[in-house]
Amino acid sequence: MTMRVLVLGAGGQVGFECAAVLRLTAEVLALTRGQLDITDSDALIAMLQNWQPDVVVNGAAYTNVQEAEAKEAQAHAVNARAVGILGEQAKKRRFGLIHFSTDYVFDGRKDGAYEEGDTPCPLNAYGRTKLEGERALIEADAPALILRTAWVYGMRTHNFVSTILRLARSRPVVSVVTDQRGNPTFCRDLAEAVALLSSRLQGQRGGFEAWRAWRGVYHLAGQGMCSRFELAQAVLSLDPRRSEHLVRHIVPITSPELASSVCRPERVNLNTNLAFERLGIRLPPWRMSLQRALAG
Ligand SMILES: NC(=O)c1ccc[n+]([C@@H]2O[C@H](COP(=O)([O-])OP(=O)(O)OC[C@H]3O[C@@H](n4cnc5c(N)ncnc54)[C@H](OP(=O)(O)O)[C@@H]3O)[C@@H](O)[C@H]2O)c1
Repeated sequence: MTMRVLVLGAGGQVGFECAAVLRLTAEVLALTRGQLDITDSDALIAMLQNWQPDVVVNGAAYTNVQEAEAKEAQAHAVNARAVGILGEQAKKRRFGLIHFSTDYVFDGRKDGAYEEGDTPCPLNAYGRTKLEGERALIEADAPALILRTAWVYGMRTHNFVSTILRLARSRPVVSVVTDQRGNPTFCRDLAEAVALLSSRLQGQRGGFEAWRAWRGVYHLAGQGMCSRFELAQAVLSLDPRRSEHLVRHIVPITSPELASSVCRPERVNLNTNLAFERLGIRLPPWRMSLQRALAG
């Protein structure tokens, strides 16, 4: 029987790619925020009741880190309250849930790579609300894979990589911070992992029982860590349309020079061994994925 997958937040980077990849093997209903606002719990529950998905992929999130500082209640409604309801519904209606969380649940002060069991300590409102979302799923004992990822980019919408490509074409000097380090993650890689995980778990005998058995928090991000500065350098050197660049220098700066009012973790390296050991899934090295993304 064809698996039925409901994708929420399908206008976003990850939601859009998940829907595109899942369509190759599943019956997909992909809804943007305009089609279903997940904070409208009546509409959300009615949709789940009517469409009866086997799997829900939640790509919906309040992701504006800066804005979330002033609008934490709104961020909480999307990133935590609605997620808790999804979790309760998943348990009640027996569908598997894939949800995304973030490296921003950590403060970045650990020397080594972060494992799933490390104590979170978010530095900003976005990170706090995402952590509350994780906890709501765990409290609901939801049959959910909570995939913590990081530094997500794609070629469709606004993100760090697309910003560097745009700036490189419009100015001779681009300044980039050297003191923020993380794991760049291509949204297509995440989507392929989500499609594989969905078919694998749904295909296992018992279907829903497999989701229950493997529920939990997993780190899933591009292999390897770099600074924003190193990522910008790689973007420029791997861009197949380098001849269009106006940029001559990338200037290294530090976060305080950016004068951002939001506190961000300086260095989060997600250890992704657990996802490989338990779920058999690992994303490619970040530079390899960047090359694939830029090649289009
Ligand atoms: N981007 C990153 O670097 C990053 C890093 C770590 C983790 N993550 C996590 O990865 C997941 C996907 O992120 P992304 O990069 O794909 O973010 P994104 O591009 O900002 O997509 C999020 C989507 O959610 C939609 N949305 C917001 N509020 C909604 C609501 N109430 N109901 C339904 N949809 C709503 C947004 O619609 P509008 O655009 O119309 O608001 C947007 O299309 C999120 O859980 C995020 O926290 C992202």
